[in-house]
Amino acid sequence: MPETERDLSQVDLESLWHPMTQHSQLASSPPLFIESASGSFLYDRHGRRWLDAVSGLWCVNVGHGRAELAEVAREQMEKLDYLPATLSHEPGVLLARKILDLLGFDGRVYFAVTGSEANEAAFKIARQYHRQTPGGAGRYKIIGRHRGYHGNTMGALSATGQEERRQGYEPFVPGFLHVEAPDPYRSDVDCAAALEAAILAEGAESVAAFIMEPVIAGGGVLVPPPEYLPRVREICDRHGVLLILDEVVTGFGRTGRWFGHHHWGVEPDIMTLAKGIASGYMPLSATVVRREIFDAFSAEPGGLEHFRHINTYGGHPVATAVARRNLEIIEREGLVERAAEKGRSLLEALRRRLDHPQVGDVRGLGLLIGIELVRDRATREPLSVEDTARVVKRCAQEGVIVGRTINTAPSFSNVLIVAPPFTLSDDEAELLVGTIEAALAKELGASLPG
Ligand SMILES: Cc1ncc(COP(=O)(O)O)c(C=O)c1O
Repeated sequence: MPETERDLSQVDLESLWHPMTQHSQLASSPPLFIESASGSFLYDRHGRRWLDAVSGLWCVNVGHGRAELAEVAREQMEKLDYLPATLSHEPGVLLARKILDLLGFDGRVYFAVTGSEANEAAFKIARQYHRQTPGGAGRYKIIGRHRGYHGNTMGALSATGQEERRQGYEPFVPGFLHVEAPDPYRSDVDCAAALEAAILAEGAESVAAFIMEPVIAGGGVLVPPPEYLPRVREICDRHGVLLILDEVVTGFGRTGRWFGHHHWGVEPDIMTLAKGIASGYMPLSATVVRREIFDAFSAEPGGLEHFRHINTYGGHPVATAVARRNLEIIEREGLVERAAEKGRSLLEALRRRLDHPQVGDVRGLGLLIGIELVRDRATREPLSVEDTARVVKRCAQEGVIVGRTINTAPSFSNVLIVAPPFTLSDDEAELLVGTIEAALAKELGASLPG
């Protein structure tokens, strides 16, 4: 290793605190040191490359290294570097309009920076909306789902239903509870009925909102059955509960439609967006509300009815300018349609080629795909965390970065995650499928015959 890289790795070990990482392992197994990225690939300084089959953290939807986005950022920074969102600027206004047009939604867009913050805003909006709506004063509870992920801040973590993310950080924000989410591979529980039962048990007049990801992403790529979301919508309507859709991952084409909920023909009351909004080139998130929700915040000036919330960097001019151009690229290159087509062919190829005794289920929607590994196909007992981690590590050694779930439910660290950029070529898809196929064979033994 050249001197400088060794030096940098040493500085890393002595200075950085990496997320989700046991640092005692880093001296013997340091993180990949990446210098540049282009298209679907990450490169180190020796020119070695890795296929980024998770688009960073499923955010780099248009692929890496788009000079056009760098140019927009530079131009915007020179023109107007920063402005608080209490004032107005062209890229922010036009991006908000564009999002509403894509949604076909009459409403308003509140900008923040991260997905967690977008969800925090959603919870506060839901509570304040009810307080300012006749008959709603007692509604404060937020129902989330087991295995759902909504972020790392205390409210978003309270809504999150993933065991390992929560352990040790108690107590959580009061008023959050969880119901079961559909997991068609493992359970046929009627989860919409479970939601209604929870609302009734809590007393509907105390429930402000239900939050869910249209497809649970980090919790294991759980695609709900077709009737689930329409029934959830009906149940929320019946009980005066707001439906918050966390589209932080599923927004902007990841599932092969512009927004995840477009697959099911239902509209949320509040929606949160991040990741694909600027394809990760800039940090930006948004909370979108229906017109009726926004209107409840309107009153004579001087009172407390307005939304009393601010993010210093929310709706940053550079981030919104980059996001606008990112959405233009997605439209110009037909990338949502491409995500749908590539998603279908990739899912089909994975199902066909991963005919391996430890592959229990291959599922997904668009370019959001999960491969559930099991010890035994008949019992569906999950593969151990160590065995699953070995497959992921082997893929990385062979030049392909795939993700995996980490204890989203106790003992369920067994789902490989594939979510490549929408620009993935046929050759790159072949490299991805071939590498996973070979990694399974090398680490877990031979494929099924035939
Ligand atoms: C569905 C979902 N919601 C919210 C978040 C939190 O976003 P952030 O990490 O930007 O705070 C994530 C992050 O992965 C996510 O997957």
